[in-house]
Amino acid sequence: MAPSGIKQDTILRHFLITVLCLLLLGMFFGWIGALQYIAPGFLKNQLSFERVRPLHVSSVVFWIIFGAATCAFIYLKEYLSANLFSWKLLKWAYILFLLTTLIILGSYVFGIFGGREYWEFNPALAVPITIVWIVLLINFLKSLKSFKKQPVYIWMWLTGFCFFLFTYLESNLWLIPYFRSNVVHELTIQWKSYGAMVGSWNMLIYGSSIYLMDKISGSTEYGFSKIAFGIYFLGLFNLMFNWGHHIYTLPTHAVIKNIAYVVSMTELLLLVRIIFLWKKSLSTAIKYFHYVPYKFLMAADFWIFFTLALAIPMSIPAINIYTHGTHVTVGHTMGATIGINTMLLLAFVFDSIEKSQKISPEKIKKFNRLYWVANGSLLCFWLSLVIAGFIKGVWQVQHQSVPFSSMMAGLKPYFMVFFIAGSLLFLSLATFVLMALSALLKKNPLAPQPHTTV
Ligand code: HEM
Repeated sequence: MAPSGIKQDTILRHFLITVLCLLLLGMFFGWIGALQYIAPGFLKNQLSFERVRPLHVSSVVFWIIFGAATCAFIYLKEYLSANLFSWKLLKWAYILFLLTTLIILGSYVFGIFGGREYWEFNPALAVPITIVWIVLLINFLKSLKSFKKQPVYIWMWLTGFCFFLFTYLESNLWLIPYFRSNVVHELTIQWKSYGAMVGSWNMLIYGSSIYLMDKISGSTEYGFSKIAFGIYFLGLFNLMFNWGHHIYTLPTHAVIKNIAYVVSMTELLLLVRIIFLWKKSLSTAIKYFHYVPYKFLMAADFWIFFTLALAIPMSIPAINIYTHGTHVTVGHTMGATIGINTMLLLAFVFDSIEKSQKISPEKIKKFNRLYWVANGSLLCFWLSLVIAGFIKGVWQVQHQSVPFSSMMAGLKPYFMVFFIAGSLLFLSLATFVLMALSALLKKNPLAPQPHTTV
């Protein structure tokens, strides 16, 4: 391969190392935040909850967005069996991404804010993030020689890259006085952009999931299947309209909320179905040959069920007034971003670094132990948040005569479970991350290697 191909692999490897470090760091901050739930005032002067929360949220959200983009590039390069358009563009995007991330996290540590929820850094930093994304988008478009007869994952990646740029810019519209002049308009635009942004990173991740399923089964069945294109068009529709469920409490047009209610969950239903069909089609040998990515895909399938089980009632306006702004929402968000997004990203990361290889029974045993700890603790973590949130929601709507402090004291046992389960979740996921990092730091597993198939 030409030297530029090797350079591209090196930069993609740096991207992977950085996003894995962000996940590790983000979970550590989340763990401190969980500790502050049960020990209010812990590290109050050095790292208060107001700083820990954005440190956690920005790190893990960057893990998802830039992790999804990196995996899409790794798979695109593999799919094209050719070099990407420009390694220099990729290198500059990486350097700018790294510097901006460091400045953002550093500014939080020093208590410098200025943005809106989820993007609480100084809005000036939106400029380098936008530049990084535009450079990635150019590299993606230029790497594709043709749009003809492309499988669904190419369209999904392309849509994800384009819509993220659009929705990210939209989430910064509040900087223009016209959009700030009316609070309902401003909040509607803000939540609309967040909902659609999740849809765009899901596009990147679902694209890689379908690519991986085809790769594991050694066919092109799913990439060109009707069901996969069904997910694509539904995902696109959802991306444009499902954000309505974020604004149930705002006085906007009922039609927006009704569309959101109908379309919100359909895309997840199709995804669960395609993974189920794919799983049925695999032989045992193939499953063992791709054991780790296969298991992470299965975990995501399982978490789609749980997310749907919570999201469907949450989308009913009469129930939404009890869950809105409580820990149920936090549970829903973390259930989806950890159970679905992170599990799928880990499947791509391990697939990229391990390539296809038979895994020894000892390794399977060790992996399974960690895998069940991660999923079991995530379940307890998620349940504790959902129950605590619902109790708080009932208090907000029906029992405001009970003092806030008494209601919060009643939630203590759930927060205790949240902390213990969160610690186990942190440890188990961190072990996976360290395994991936040690493989990436030893050599460059992204560089082409002799490929074995079953
Ligand atoms: C892959 C791992 C993780 C991801 C992707 C993730 C994602 C998120 C997201 C998106 C939020 C914002 C939720 C919202 O505003 O609705 C959040 C909040 C939070 N997370 Fe995580 N999280 C992860 C792991 C953890 C772990 C391991 C812990 C604790 C041990 C934790 C503790 C927290 C806490 C305390 C909050 C703040 C909740 C609040 O505002 O009251 N997270 N997380």
